[in-house]
Amino acid sequence: MDEAKLHEFMGKFVTDMGGAFMMGMVLVGDELGLYRAMADHQPVTADALAARCGCHPRLVREWLNANAAAGYVESTDNAYRLPPEQAMALANEQSPVFVAPGTNVVASCFLDLDKLLEAFRGDGGLPWSEHHHRMFHGTEKFFRPGYRAHLTTAWLPAMDGVVAKLQGGAKVADVGCGHGASTIVMAEVYSNSRFFGFDFHTPSIEMARQRAAEAKVSDRVTFTTATAKAYAERGFDLICFFDCLHDMGDPVGAARHAYQTPRDDGAVMLVEPFAGDSVADNSNPVGRLYYAASSMICTPNSLSQEVGLRLGAQAGERRLGAVMAEAGFSRFRRATETPFNLILEARK
Ligand SMILES: C[S@@+](CC[C@H](N)C(=O)[O-])C[C@H]1O[C@@H](n2cnc3c(N)ncnc32)[C@H](O)[C@@H]1O
Repeated sequence: MDEAKLHEFMGKFVTDMGGAFMMGMVLVGDELGLYRAMADHQPVTADALAARCGCHPRLVREWLNANAAAGYVESTDNAYRLPPEQAMALANEQSPVFVAPGTNVVASCFLDLDKLLEAFRGDGGLPWSEHHHRMFHGTEKFFRPGYRAHLTTAWLPAMDGVVAKLQGGAKVADVGCGHGASTIVMAEVYSNSRFFGFDFHTPSIEMARQRAAEAKVSDRVTFTTATAKAYAERGFDLICFFDCLHDMGDPVGAARHAYQTPRDDGAVMLVEPFAGDSVADNSNPVGRLYYAASSMICTPNSLSQEVGLRLGAQAGERRLGAVMAEAGFSRFRRATETPFNLILEARK
């Protein structure tokens, strides 16, 4: 036993445990409006912040001290300040890195722990619908900033000839659309096109319809409850899977359905978590995040469905290419990437 290595590991563990608690602190700050009330970057005392947000002053001071120790806020002379960079991540809903409410996904994993233990001891399955509602809202909030920042500015332009079609008036499917964040981002920009969102989780489809109405795009967006293998619409110019193919029990079946539904030269856009092809490639902070989420969310979800292929969130480009090839697609390439996403294009 190497004592120095033990100390090193305990340091890492304390950092991680503090990080897990900080996810709770972020949810408190987001839901009570504490970060937003500090978005002017000016120093504020705990009492003043508590008064602004209608919260208990002693608890707000303790929350601020935790945020100061974590480097989320700065503290000087009994006052606290949210720096502009942290405000982008924690207070500014329009920013491309607004991560605060996405932490609801982490909360759901803890709330769902008993069900997850049952899955580990049993057949491995934990259906998407069995999660706490924080999972569905957190997923929407986790992914939406990335869609808003990249989808119409970088990802669709990286696909072969797709933008011209969208501008002219295309028919688009968003399979496994959840709350429709990606569908709505596309519909807001390409007003000549028609968008069809499909998901097998009815409460998510109901929320997607509400989101479309709020965004005033209901005239060109239709959300329908359907599995990825069973939606009836045909003739799509573009079929998208945003962070969902690896969740499915039968991704080959879903991809085969997509193979059968486009117009002749229709394209499939697959947005998947960034991953290399081996565990060694993914042994980094992003891979750690996705493997852990995949153990608690994606893989049990796949195992709860027919076939149960259990790709996992770190399937990687080679494995995903094999799925698309098995479904019939002859062309497959990486269109582009971000540190968090692979954007893959499949063609007949
Ligand atoms: C991680 S969420 C992503 C949601 C959405 N695409 C987004 O990016 O916000 C995965 C989604 O896939 C849906 N899903 C999983 N398996 C499905 C299946 N077999 N058919 C249809 N939807 C499915 C879930 O209901 C869930 O909404």
